[in-house]
Amino acid sequence: MKYLVIRGQNRLEGTLPIHGAKNSVLPILAATLLTGESALHNCPRLSDVDAACGILGHLGSQVRREGACILVRPGNTGDCCIPEEMMRRMRSSIVFLGAIVGRWGRARISLPGGCELGPRPIDLHLAALEKLGVQIREDHGYLDCRAPEGLRGTVIPLPFPSVGATENVVIAACTARGETVVKNAAREPEIDDLAAYLNGCGARIRTAPNGDIHIQGVPALHGGEHRVIADRIAAATYLSCTAAAGGDVTVTGVCSEHLSAVLPCFEEMGCRLWVTPDSVRLQTQGRLRPVRSVRTLPYPGFPTDAQSPLMAAACLADGTSMFVENIFESRYKQVPELRRMGADVEVEGRVALVHGVSRLHGAAVRCTDLRGGAAIAAAALAAEGETTLAQIEHIDRGYEALEENLRRIGADARREEAP
Ligand code: UD1
Repeated sequence: MKYLVIRGQNRLEGTLPIHGAKNSVLPILAATLLTGESALHNCPRLSDVDAACGILGHLGSQVRREGACILVRPGNTGDCCIPEEMMRRMRSSIVFLGAIVGRWGRARISLPGGCELGPRPIDLHLAALEKLGVQIREDHGYLDCRAPEGLRGTVIPLPFPSVGATENVVIAACTARGETVVKNAAREPEIDDLAAYLNGCGARIRTAPNGDIHIQGVPALHGGEHRVIADRIAAATYLSCTAAAGGDVTVTGVCSEHLSAVLPCFEEMGCRLWVTPDSVRLQTQGRLRPVRSVRTLPYPGFPTDAQSPLMAAACLADGTSMFVENIFESRYKQVPELRRMGADVEVEGRVALVHGVSRLHGAAVRCTDLRGGAAIAAAALAAEGETTLAQIEHIDRGYEALEENLRRIGADARREEAP
């Protein structure tokens, strides 16, 4: 069993380059099934990325990593099936569905199980793919998908701007016949990044001024080279760590515009910010002030993934902060763990009231999910004494070498393995 051991209350100082975005690289890896040989730069070392590479390997692609670059050469085993254990390893593996049917006209994938963020249905993905001409049948826990006449473009209005459903359609529609228009599409920067990669491979994807995504199908795509954008959520997490523990840290290589909903919260909490197009410096000044309300929304609203790390900082503010989670149910799983460290948080449905306390204390706690785990690490950096954080495999899904990065900015954090 692996643990993170964090001794809190070191002031954080220094500069931290931000790794590539998990949520970009995963759909881009899926999209390589439809393209030719590709070189993807700035790929973070994450267990979710390994899982996606494993799925590609299973489907016949040759995948090789050279440092932060992943080289993919699509192949063909004739197998269009993702077995259950692979689907379980990475929840977002549903994003492979559009790519597999786009490439082979059929797919068989195990139904993704539930997850720790409440029910995470895939109805929007399936309804959208059906509109493109995919026939979907449930069969003993598997989804059997077939497009006997190939995929054909159409207008797909999404009832909710689901990130994953938008990505599935964008990928599948690239080589469909005719034009596909995704209305009410998700606008997350990772979708633009996916489109940039696909356009570099010969796709014809453009976003209209009203946000609709138009995909003009082409007969085939070729290979390409692409640099994955930086992870805005990792950047928001390290800024939250600094706000919580106190210090002066600059995150670099990240597009600050992607953080436009997050940065005002730090300012409201009394932090000083220096922002350039590709860096953010945050300096704390005395005790944090509360943030009146943080409401998670689809992009460009406040990202749900940054909610829990920011909450860790709010736990130490001089007053009450309110969080409203509008994207996922059960996204306050970190709260009982934060309470073990002395935090005062009330949860009622989608609302969390965080009554700031003057100090937190170290405790034996566990990661409840990826971002919840990051929140607990942020709280541990601010807490008196030592925190032992278990189940860190959640953190390894989305943060490359978290403890090394934290040490780089002055934290006392180490990974330990217990028998
Ligand atoms: C992606 C991100 C995740 C982020 C989330 C919201 C990746 C790999 N993951 O997840 O980090 O937290 O966007 O920004 O990019 N929904 C349905 N039916 C569907 C699909 C979604 O009801 O078919 C619901 C979900 O249950 C959830 C909401 O829509 O409540 C948002 O989900 P979605 O935008 O699809 O998120 P993901 O793509 O799963």
